[in-house]
Amino acid sequence: MKILGIETSCDETSAAVVEQEIVHSNVVQGQLELHAAYGGVVPELASRAHITHISAVVAAALRQANCEARALDGIAVTVGPGLIGGLLVGLTVAKGMAIAMAKPLIGIHHMEGHLMSPFLRAAHEPMPGCDFPFVALLVSGGHTLLLYAQRFGHYQLLGQTRDDAAGEAFDKGARMLGLPYPGGPSIAALAMGGDPTAIRFPRAWLDRNRFDFSFSGLKTSLRTHLLNHPLETTPPQAQRDLAASYQEALVDILASKALAACREVGSQRLLVAGGVGANQRLRTLLQQRAERIQLLVPPLPLCTDNGAMIALAGLHRLTLGQQSDWSLNVRPRWPIAELNDHSS
Ligand code: KG4
Ligand code: ZN
Repeated sequence: MKILGIETSCDETSAAVVEQEIVHSNVVQGQLELHAAYGGVVPELASRAHITHISAVVAAALRQANCEARALDGIAVTVGPGLIGGLLVGLTVAKGMAIAMAKPLIGIHHMEGHLMSPFLRAAHEPMPGCDFPFVALLVSGGHTLLLYAQRFGHYQLLGQTRDDAAGEAFDKGARMLGLPYPGGPSIAALAMGGDPTAIRFPRAWLDRNRFDFSFSGLKTSLRTHLLNHPLETTPPQAQRDLAASYQEALVDILASKALAACREVGSQRLLVAGGVGANQRLRTLLQQRAERIQLLVPPLPLCTDNGAMIALAGLHRLTLGQQSDWSLNVRPRWPIAELNDHSS
């Protein structure tokens, strides 16, 4: 089956053609320059940029895959969670194509797309060896979820953030450190050559709900530290130490809780996906501590938002006989637990 996947939930306009788990094309048009001056994504600017780029991005995805639209078996599109304006752009295009060509339309949960990203591969690459069941740590700019995925479409929520998402904690920390958006790669770059043990930032273990996350205390500690040690008077090495220590606190919590969840449910596999999944220090910590647990991670370019992951989730939904009707609408807030209602 060949599926076109469309993703416009945040600040990436993306379309991809995926056949089984093979990525034939994956076009991603980012908007970094557009939002740079604001230190974060401005929803209205994002929507307008999606409108500008979506047709060319879809056309490029089909062209690069050497695939005519008529040859598609279905069109998958992110319908939520995400920014309403962006979601509407993607859905409008997907619906228009599906109706015009009488193709199945499949509305996809953005985080289910991330969850499927480690299963993707290029045509010349070997099978990545991913399989259900697994514990999934899904860490993006909008979500921090710890799930037990028994099979596709059946997800047990083990924990989630009570305040900021992990990516948001990177983004807000970066802003305080005077670093550009997105904050994750900025902090990771400054942290290189820094000492992660220089400053002992607090870790919120939340003993009662030990698979939940909270990053607000960590953020406040950084703010307090910067009040006492202003950035302007902090030498370059101390700035690197600061970034490394902040990053360490974040990834230590993520890695510790994800591995504890694997032990709790007896899972031999841990899948890590979403933008923060690209963090090298997180990957290293997990590798060091995972022992007999197999780590399932996507290649770096597939960690952040892309159409290929949406296409693959759509392909699996379609295989289960699930498709959306023409009344499909966006769902800017869509709890992942609700996906279980549709599982076969
Ligand atoms: O999944 P994603 O592309 O978009 C959302 O669904 O939100 O994730 C974007 C988030 C941003 O917060 C960004 O700072 C973070 O992922 N990110 C990283 C890295 N690359 C992207 N965080 C830590 N380290 C990275 N290397
Ligand atoms: Zn995402």
